[in-house]
Amino acid sequence: MKIEGKTYRTIWFENNTVKIIDQTKLPHQFLIKDLKNVKDAINAIKTMEVRGAPLIGATAAYGLVLSLIEKNDLSFLKKSSEDLISSRPTAINLKWAVDRMMKKLLGVNDKDILKIALDEAKSIVEEDINYCKSIGLNGLKIIKDIADKKKDTVNILTHCNAGWLATIDWGTATSPIYHAHQNGIKVHVWVDETRPRNQGANLTSYELNEEKISNTVITDNAGGILMQRGQVDMCIVGTDRTLSNGDVCNKVGTYLKALAAKDNNVPFYVALPSSTIDWEIKNHKKIPIEERNPEELSHIEGVDENNNIKKIRIYPQKSRSLNLAFDVTPAKLVTGLITEKGICEASEKGLKGLFK
Ligand code: MRU
Repeated sequence: MKIEGKTYRTIWFENNTVKIIDQTKLPHQFLIKDLKNVKDAINAIKTMEVRGAPLIGATAAYGLVLSLIEKNDLSFLKKSSEDLISSRPTAINLKWAVDRMMKKLLGVNDKDILKIALDEAKSIVEEDINYCKSIGLNGLKIIKDIADKKKDTVNILTHCNAGWLATIDWGTATSPIYHAHQNGIKVHVWVDETRPRNQGANLTSYELNEEKISNTVITDNAGGILMQRGQVDMCIVGTDRTLSNGDVCNKVGTYLKALAAKDNNVPFYVALPSSTIDWEIKNHKKIPIEERNPEELSHIEGVDENNNIKKIRIYPQKSRSLNLAFDVTPAKLVTGLITEKGICEASEKGLKGLFK
């Protein structure tokens, strides 16, 4: 998608280096950063220079390529794969991508291994782009139906950033929105700010602005009243891990939006590529929920009058804080799952009908 009219992807490989857009600086600075070794890739995932489930999966895949460039050695590769998987716990795409790479690489001879690794990382990237595009075309039908009935702008609420910045291109939750816009359907997006890291305000609003899609940032708590007022036609969010029973783990606060949507008869959709489905865990209590540094809550970042990025503390130094990064929305609150293969019910029957 576009930034200042120029088309970008979030990650690419050039001259033995992985290039990323440093998302910790957006929207105030647009910086392309080089990842030169596997440590850089792990650090980029941990510090959220790259974030969003599909993008951290792709970064991990390229991280293994960087590991091989650094040292073509099996025990180093295995250690790299373990370190990459543990760099963030919740998004299943990370383990999915590393496992897929390692399956391809184990048993391959030293001479060919780098080329095979690079080809596989590239195919993970290309596949994600195609899947996100298909998610968009499938989700477009839902938006079009609402637009046809309403004969007015369709108001869509989203949480966090499940946009192209969270994937390689198109995004998951935003892909139906981009496709609707490109098909001449009038859409407006309510963007949850998404405390504490403000992925909604900093990233979703930014990428929608760049694509000239009407959007309004709201506090995380405003969704309920907008739904009561009839100002939300549908919600679309992304996910970091969807269980085979249809329970959806996503950015903390998603669950509360789904509850409000249910109470107000607002359709609540989750968009995901199949790489985000966890076929193994059966109980949502077993999902590892990331707990991040409390400083993300007690401090906030923005720009001063000279456009310098500043970080300030916003509540008493003595106050304790708990920074849970994800929550789980039970399947019963989800209207449907929008996947690359079509739309299904959030249930084992629905998912297996599409994928197995
Ligand atoms: O902590 P983040 O910013 O990595 O969380 C991202 C989300 O919660 C997204 O909704 C999810 O990864 C889906 S991205 C297509």
